[in-house]
Amino acid sequence: MTPRQAAAENGLVDSFGRRVTYVRLSVTDRCDLRCRYCMAETMQFLPRSEILTFEEIVALADIFIERGVRRIRLTGGEPLVRRGIDALVAALGVRIGDGLDELTLTTNGTQLARFAEPLRRAGVRRVNVSLDSRDPARFRYITRRGDLDKVLGGIEAAAAAGLAVKINMVALRGLNEDEIEPMLRWCAARGHDLTLIETMPLGEVEEDRSDHYLPLDVIRDRLERRFALTPSLRRTGGPARYYEVGGTGIRLGLITPLTGNFCEGCNRIRVAATGTVYGCLGHDQKVELRDLLRAGGRGAVDEALDRLLAGKPRGHAFDIAAARPAVPRHMSVTGG
Ligand code: 5AD
Ligand code: SF4
Repeated sequence: MTPRQAAAENGLVDSFGRRVTYVRLSVTDRCDLRCRYCMAETMQFLPRSEILTFEEIVALADIFIERGVRRIRLTGGEPLVRRGIDALVAALGVRIGDGLDELTLTTNGTQLARFAEPLRRAGVRRVNVSLDSRDPARFRYITRRGDLDKVLGGIEAAAAAGLAVKINMVALRGLNEDEIEPMLRWCAARGHDLTLIETMPLGEVEEDRSDHYLPLDVIRDRLERRFALTPSLRRTGGPARYYEVGGTGIRLGLITPLTGNFCEGCNRIRVAATGTVYGCLGHDQKVELRDLLRAGGRGAVDEALDRLLAGKPRGHAFDIAAARPAVPRHMSVTGG
């Protein structure tokens, strides 16, 4: 049986009929930055033994592929800080065109200058790079330690290696609101798509996220006065709504978990670095695969995935004004 035939029979379909074809796979909870909306200043990271090995990640990816997953995105934390990450990307890259349609990566860009070429050689064609500010002092403030030049150098190296770069920018009132339009122009000049993201209440951070919460419907109205935004037909099954930005050739994506509906076409699940798989970013519904993978029982892994799909929530219920985050885990656990 080919992977496609197998997927038709044992595909990952939830109780609302949504088919999961996309998996976000976190390879580490660690990061070299401490973005204020994402992490606390001091984070307790997981011990090595609790993290899936590369062999376990590849075995899990093969199970997903057999069950109809076509795209895998590696995330973190910061995926490029995991030692030997290029070996994992190369191992997964072998599946591109033979089960996988695409292997991508979300990164903060600090290590991208070093990894752009190996990623490209492994078959990666697109990367998402987080960039919340192009002002060095602000960038350092938001990330608590980041060096903007390194990230800009990483973006250049990625483009030079032939990778399509999409910029992710978390919209933060009072922190980078005035940079949104310049960022769009900068991206347009370089041919990078831009996605703006509303802050999501995930995990405790020192800050009150609602202080910097910026609803994107306001931003879209503002940008529409300057740019011709045409809703794009492209749907990735993800949370973003896309617009063609007239005269630029780039696309603007808006991820609006707080102001917009976001969930009805959801085609994804998220694997934490520990092998815990979550049905939804905004819920604690999950199954634990690590021990099952270590025990080597394929049937038990399939059963756990079936349980996850059967219980995948219809949608999240984020509330930025709530006293507590929607879920206790940080984005760095489940990887954006
Ligand atoms: N809310 C919104 N976006 C977040 N990210 C990390 N934490 C949060 C949060 N709480 C962003 C990162 C990255 C993307 C994967 O998710 O900046 O661009
Ligand atoms: Fe690291 Fe990304 Fe979180 Fe920033 S948002 S601390 S870069 S994982």
